[in-house]
Amino acid sequence: MESVKSGESHKLAVFASGKGSNAQKIAEYFAGHQHISIALIVSSKASAGVLDMARAKDIPVLILEKERFMETGYADELRARGIDSIILAGFLWKVPPVLIAAYPNRILNIHPALLPAYGGKGMYGQKVHEAVIAAGETCSGITIHYVDEIYDHGAILFQKTCAVEAGDTWERVAKKVQELEHRHYPEQIEKWVMGRRK
Ligand code: GRF
Repeated sequence: MESVKSGESHKLAVFASGKGSNAQKIAEYFAGHQHISIALIVSSKASAGVLDMARAKDIPVLILEKERFMETGYADELRARGIDSIILAGFLWKVPPVLIAAYPNRILNIHPALLPAYGGKGMYGQKVHEAVIAAGETCSGITIHYVDEIYDHGAILFQKTCAVEAGDTWERVAKKVQELEHRHYPEQIEKWVMGRRK
């Protein structure tokens, strides 16, 4: 894997389509960080809540247009803004091959279940937790993984489990999983970036 230049801040772009509670935790965690900064919040939706958070924190935002994203990945734009790595946090569009090629091994995603189970196209949010409960699982959790050309498929970097108890609703499981996400995603991003520094 390529190394990260020491001395300069490593610039992250956080991609989020929704509320952005993870993006917010990440932005809070890295505010004032010596080596890592959130340089851009990218969204597929102009009305996404995450954009209010970004504006409140004076983080630049980029709203994607679908056709252009699928064709170019906005790779030139991201490079021009000096983005070093990409963090997906509730970003629903598939990342096109052109962007994966422009940022090899430099795109991470978080999934609200223990991959390789309960992943793939259409498996997000409520659907994931309902499937976990319907299968009678006694645990669920989070998976942080590299992004490749298949949904929820890239190499796994980190997992953490939580219990699924009898009678748990999907909302209850979602809450436990979200607590894990907020606690671990920023820390794991930091470890991942810092581990690549020379
Ligand atoms: C999280 O559950 C994450 O695992 C998934 O999308 C959700 C985003 O939630 N990829 P939020 O918008 O960060 O609150």
